[in-house]
Amino acid sequence: MRILAIHGSPSMKRGKTYLVLEKLLKGAKKAGAIIEVIFLKKERIRGCTGCLSCWVKTPGKCFQKDDMAKLIEKLKRTDLMILATPVYVDGMTGQCKNFMDRLIPLLDSHYEIRDGHFRHVVKEKFCSKIFLISVCAFHEMDNFDPLILHAKRAAENLNMEYVGEILRPAVYGLSMKKVGTDRLRRIMQAFERAGEELVKNGAVSENTRQEAASEIVPKEAYLRTMNRYFDAQIQRR
Ligand SMILES: Cc1cc2nc3c(=O)[nH]c(=O)nc-3n(C[C@H](O)[C@H](O)[C@H](O)COP(=O)(O)O)c2cc1C
Repeated sequence: MRILAIHGSPSMKRGKTYLVLEKLLKGAKKAGAIIEVIFLKKERIRGCTGCLSCWVKTPGKCFQKDDMAKLIEKLKRTDLMILATPVYVDGMTGQCKNFMDRLIPLLDSHYEIRDGHFRHVVKEKFCSKIFLISVCAFHEMDNFDPLILHAKRAAENLNMEYVGEILRPAVYGLSMKKVGTDRLRRIMQAFERAGEELVKNGAVSENTRQEAASEIVPKEAYLRTMNRYFDAQIQRR
């Protein structure tokens, strides 16, 4: 299985998104996948201008000369795309959204009704599956709801199969000093197992997803620790 991981956190390797993605990819590699990671922050991807020239003037090609054409070609040779994004204002990062918008040259301008719903005709088969990995700072799982819905709908429009997600809320718990190392190890192992399951079974089990998202620090304690951390940062200015 060829995997293209689209990493959309501007923090790149310093961030928590990469911390969990790296583990998942380690598991996927162990299970035999061929992996490439794209750091969107390093790529030159301009925003879609909405001119629709990729549909009507030069079908399949955007007029903008940047790195997106190269990424679309990579996607065509990929079995599974992993979208790795932290939650930013209840959704994906701007980098990820820019990338997703620029996938429209893969679609035909014409509409069709697929499974009773308006969609664009998909011109040619490209990567057929998408998986989501995300982290967020807040404590509750419902902080991921808008992002999951968005990723699912985008998959439907692009005629890709949405094969699931793995999520880590209250992600800063992973670096809280008082947390037992055993618990942290179990969580990180769950991300690695997720990668293996994804390659071997095409999906991540409920058990693994629950372990990855399991509580590190109770809500009130997490709140106090986070606010103390920010107070200290502000005082250090
Ligand atoms: C602009 C911005 C918006 C954010 N919005 C949310 C949010 O809506 N919900 C949430 O739980 N966390 C939010 N966060 C926190 C990030 O999800 C969290 O810091 C995450 O670790 C960032 O990913 P990274 O570590 O890869 O940089 C936001 C962070 C930033 C910088």
